[in-house]
Amino acid sequence: MPPSIDVPGENMSLSKAQYSEYVDTLNRWAQAYYVDDAPLVPDSEYDRLYREVEAAELEHSDWRRADSPTQRVGGAPLKSFAAVTHAIPLMSMGDIFSADELDDFARRMAEASGNMEPEFCAEVKLDGLAVSLIYENGVLVRAATRGDGKVGEDVTANVRTIRAIPLKLIPPKGGRVPEYLDVRGEVFMERDKFNEWNERALKHGGKVLVNPRNAAAGSLRQLDPKVTAQRKLTFNCYYLADCRGLELPPAQYERLQLLKALGLPVNAEARVVTGAEGLREFYEGILQKRESLNYDIDGVVLKLNDISLQERLGFTAKVPRWAVAYKFPPEEVVTELIDVEFQVGRTGQITPVAKLKTVYVGGANVSSATLHNEDEIKRLDLKIGDQVIIRRAGDVIPQVAGVVKERRQGTEREVVFPTHCPACGSAIERVAGETIARCSGGLVCPAQLREGILHFVSREAMDIEGFGSRIVEALVGQRKISSLADLYLLNLEDLALLQLDEGSADKKPRLLGKVVAAKLLEAIQKSRQVPFNRFLYALGIREVGAVTAQLLAEHYRGIADLKAATADELKEIPEVGSVVAQHIVDFFAEPHNLEIIERLTGSGDLFSAGISVQPLDRPAAGEGTLPLLGQSFVLTGTLESMGRTEAGRLLQSLGAKISGSVSAKTSAVVCGAAPGSKLTKAQQLGVRVIYEEEFLALLKEHGLNPA
Ligand code: IVH
Repeated sequence: MPPSIDVPGENMSLSKAQYSEYVDTLNRWAQAYYVDDAPLVPDSEYDRLYREVEAAELEHSDWRRADSPTQRVGGAPLKSFAAVTHAIPLMSMGDIFSADELDDFARRMAEASGNMEPEFCAEVKLDGLAVSLIYENGVLVRAATRGDGKVGEDVTANVRTIRAIPLKLIPPKGGRVPEYLDVRGEVFMERDKFNEWNERALKHGGKVLVNPRNAAAGSLRQLDPKVTAQRKLTFNCYYLADCRGLELPPAQYERLQLLKALGLPVNAEARVVTGAEGLREFYEGILQKRESLNYDIDGVVLKLNDISLQERLGFTAKVPRWAVAYKFPPEEVVTELIDVEFQVGRTGQITPVAKLKTVYVGGANVSSATLHNEDEIKRLDLKIGDQVIIRRAGDVIPQVAGVVKERRQGTEREVVFPTHCPACGSAIERVAGETIARCSGGLVCPAQLREGILHFVSREAMDIEGFGSRIVEALVGQRKISSLADLYLLNLEDLALLQLDEGSADKKPRLLGKVVAAKLLEAIQKSRQVPFNRFLYALGIREVGAVTAQLLAEHYRGIADLKAATADELKEIPEVGSVVAQHIVDFFAEPHNLEIIERLTGSGDLFSAGISVQPLDRPAAGEGTLPLLGQSFVLTGTLESMGRTEAGRLLQSLGAKISGSVSAKTSAVVCGAAPGSKLTKAQQLGVRVIYEEEFLALLKEHGLNPA
């Protein structure tokens, strides 16, 4: 049970003592939330008490305490930021990028400590904005940005709006607050807050933020603190630069704990590790965990733990000799947008694709990125020739996160969305209210045909091995195939003579050759026996994925049965909604589709493929159907036994849906270590939470045994 506090009913005034007690309570709750990472009450409870305090202050302005949470936003917007000279400069840090450089660093530190394996304080490198906070006798008196390291900007008014930063320090047990404290740390925006902000901005209009880092920097440099306050920034401290009137522990890690005891939030990932081995393990561990954290980091910071050793080593002109930042491969880089191409998908959807000057990002070379649709181009206000921010995090496909507009030269060109299909010249249609534009060419469009064939031969469909995009492109381009069924009419000669390149004046085109051709024919032959679900999926009916195809195949004996089904009948199948049902009905109402199915499955004449579609064995009641069908799962935190992608895939293979956010309809939340806000949400909504052990048991129960 959360500790409750009696709040007088509306219209009931507080006494001065009660007012003061409430301010203390609010500050304690904020500390529990930000510093201890252990919320004591729901947000609504905090808000309720906050309103009481606010009302009391309105009535008795002389009661108002300087550390009241209402005092975080005050005063009018600034005209400009005053310059602040840092008494102790804000240093930067030496960067390293490889395991070799890490070994070098560990060796140097070992030598410095007299060839002992030294202890390090290993921390994450937060990707936000560095600030210095000055507390005098426990009261926050100034906050300044790093600036050039020597002179920064006075951002006190804005920093006061950050609830994670105490306006007043708490005396540590048995001690007093220091007379003077200069503490350094990072202001940043958590990912969930960033996403919430952008979701709202997209829905209701407002500034869309590029990434959490820019968001934090932009928010802190607002002249109006009210704007900063809305952005919900947070803070972690990592360095004690100066302190008077308080005895300090002799190691970095203990100093972090002291700062925490004073009420300042410290990052939860900090660890004491030993030697090169310990440093390597920490780096690897954090790299693994990176995606599941609720904030962006760009590496780890490794500091000699022993302060007297730190002091002996001192600083170069720019950086400490006792610490390094071991950077991760960057997840965001800037490159040039060379062009925008328009790809035509299997169902005619037109997808704009950014063609980029190749860059290394997120551990891979990237030369193109999807732009999703026309609205996205407008939202980004993208122009050809722009310098663009490319983001590639984890397994996620590369995205264009934003445009660096300051770098525009004036020579950039508008992106013109085509009115006609680049592959077949048919008109492009966009249904009002939909974001997707489609080529109206249907089966005359070679691009749709090519994508349709690639889907048809893919592993979950007909599983015809060897047909990569280059071969399919050549088959369509050289008109050896003009429909799916033509695939089965190919002979050895057709394939062997297929031209794989254009050739040139003095070079003949390269041909596929007999050996490969014979292999392809064998693969085609093998696919003539196919289970109904795979055949159905291969047809490429809109929104009928492998799982839906499986369900349909369990309900209907074959194509003839399915063709006869009405939309209402189809909707009785779980997972089939009215949109999918309508797509199925529409598909079978199209004479051209029926003709192709006829040719694929017929065997009477020369033009028929003779595919034999096998009905599925009827599962006995309760058996064989996917056990988690109709259930929706959400994943949060880091699982020890597998990545989240893998966990999601396994659940999907049991029929479950994976969703990115928790709602009352969520069946269960699978929770690993260091879960995000999804866990809190699940608890609030009373959604079932499954921890790793139970999750593995669930998989096992359904015959899945992940190694
Ligand atoms: S310590 C004297 N610890 O990295 C050393 N810095 O390249 C003081 N940063 O400007 C810095 N996380 O903004 C330290 N755990 C961490 C950090 C960290 C991020 C930033 C900081 C600084 C830059 C140095």
